[in-house]
Amino acid sequence: MPGITCGGQLYQCKEQESVLDCLTAHDVEIPSSCRSGICQTCLMRATKGKVPASAQSGLKNTLVAQNYFLACSCYPNVDLEVTLPAQGTIKFSAVVVELNPLSTEVVCLKLSLDKDLEYKAGQFINLFKDKNTSRPYSLASVPEIDEHLQLHVRKLPDGLVSQWVHGELKVGDVVEISAAAGDCFYVPDISNNNLLLMATGTGLAPLYGIIRDALLQGHKGGIKLYHGSNTAESIYFKEELVSLSNQHKNFIYKPCVSGNNVPKGFSAGRVNEVALNENQDLAGWSVFLCGHPEMVANAKRDSYLAGASMNNIYADPFVISARANT
Ligand SMILES: Cc1cc2nc3c(=O)[nH]c(=O)nc-3n(C[C@H](O)[C@H](O)[C@H](O)COP(=O)(O)OP(=O)(O)OC[C@H]3O[C@@H](n4cnc5c(N)ncnc54)[C@H](O)[C@@H]3O)c2cc1C
Ligand code: FES
Repeated sequence: MPGITCGGQLYQCKEQESVLDCLTAHDVEIPSSCRSGICQTCLMRATKGKVPASAQSGLKNTLVAQNYFLACSCYPNVDLEVTLPAQGTIKFSAVVVELNPLSTEVVCLKLSLDKDLEYKAGQFINLFKDKNTSRPYSLASVPEIDEHLQLHVRKLPDGLVSQWVHGELKVGDVVEISAAAGDCFYVPDISNNNLLLMATGTGLAPLYGIIRDALLQGHKGGIKLYHGSNTAESIYFKEELVSLSNQHKNFIYKPCVSGNNVPKGFSAGRVNEVALNENQDLAGWSVFLCGHPEMVANAKRDSYLAGASMNNIYADPFVISARANT
């Protein structure tokens, strides 16, 4: 049973127990959110001992080199001495400059930063409600176009952070965010590829950034965006995206409704089914998938079966933990 030393205390890590589970079981406060190695909220550093490579999957090389790891994905096989990242090393202060409804369930939160945050459109940051409570939100803004960071936050019933954003946060408030992370963003190497982008709900946020980034960088292939929801009322940014498609011949926008009432101008069906039905040969395409984890998993499998290479499928499932720690 490997020992985990944290804050001078030794804890025994049981078989099949992650460092996160071991420490939180002993009331050590470790921020966490997705608990599945995606959001990077549970970032810790090993000051002694080697963590398994799987605990560093998705981390930047610079973090790997400093022995940072994800506590929720770390099942140690040797003794470790671990610590939380030093306060302030990866956090940024930001001022709320705008908070506007995009639909009945989604607000657009714009943040102004006190110092430069390096990011690419489509990556995510962690937004902190307090010291130990944070959630990942994707960046809809493009650094070269937008003055402020832009997040689209959907209100969840009893959701700790989303309810706070919708109900309590106001213009002028100062919040903390983490550095940007994630590998769902546009790269110039794919400028000749056709792009197929599928989103449900606020999965549109990263794709809105990625599309504008691609167009800014002079993307030469076609770009097709499918945005889906149960109802037409939940499809937001329709006007902006129709206008963008009028300005760019290579950009096609298809809003999809999976419920019964499908107004004119919308395609009927689940977003991944409509998109894959209309695009059956994806050899040589790049595919971007964001939003509901089930949609992302199905669309990933079906895109691969339609010929897209796994290296060309970029995905961010918006995993919502069943009330993770905080
Ligand atoms: C990479 C990534 C990017 C993301 N990007 C976005 C984005 O751009 N926009 C966006 O809106 N979201 C995004 N998400 C999801 C987001 O991070 C949060 O998970 C979401 O906002 C819910 O957080 P919350 O604090 O409001 O809800 P939580 O407090 O985490 O609750 C989650 C759900 O559990 C339910 N619940 C509450 N209490 C309990 C309980 N005791 N037991 C069981 N269930 C309970 C709540 O009703 C709620 O529905 C992203 C997620 C990931 C992983
Ligand atoms: S990566 Fe560990 S909680 Fe999300």
